[in-house]
Amino acid sequence: MIPQATGGHLIQVTNTGETFRCTHERNLLAGMEQLGRKGIPVGCRNGGCGVCKVRVIEGEVDRRKMSRAVIAADEEQEGYALACRIYPRSDLRVDVVGKMARAVEARQVGSNKEI
Ligand code: FES
Repeated sequence: MIPQATGGHLIQVTNTGETFRCTHERNLLAGMEQLGRKGIPVGCRNGGCGVCKVRVIEGEVDRRKMSRAVIAADEEQEGYALACRIYPRSDLRVDVVGKMARAVEARQVGSNKEI
């Protein structure tokens, strides 16, 4: 069973079709952790390492400072962001990319192993 916070915006992970709720007060990475997925990489949680990279396909977010070393300006224009540094302002559709994608997609094929 997926634990979910009450209220907040509905976030859909396009990789798996899963949804969870995340309030504007929580960053998207903290919200994703509600999915209870083992293997979500524990990164810096401060916009510097890039392990939590996502692409916002639809919806509005507030963005906090992110390292240009991991999110280039042109990538940001295309919707790429760091989940630990964005806060949803509306319902979202996000594509998980980079290292975290493997952990998110692992459950879809029946594996819940830590990677
Ligand atoms: S956890 Fe390091 S950039 Fe998000």
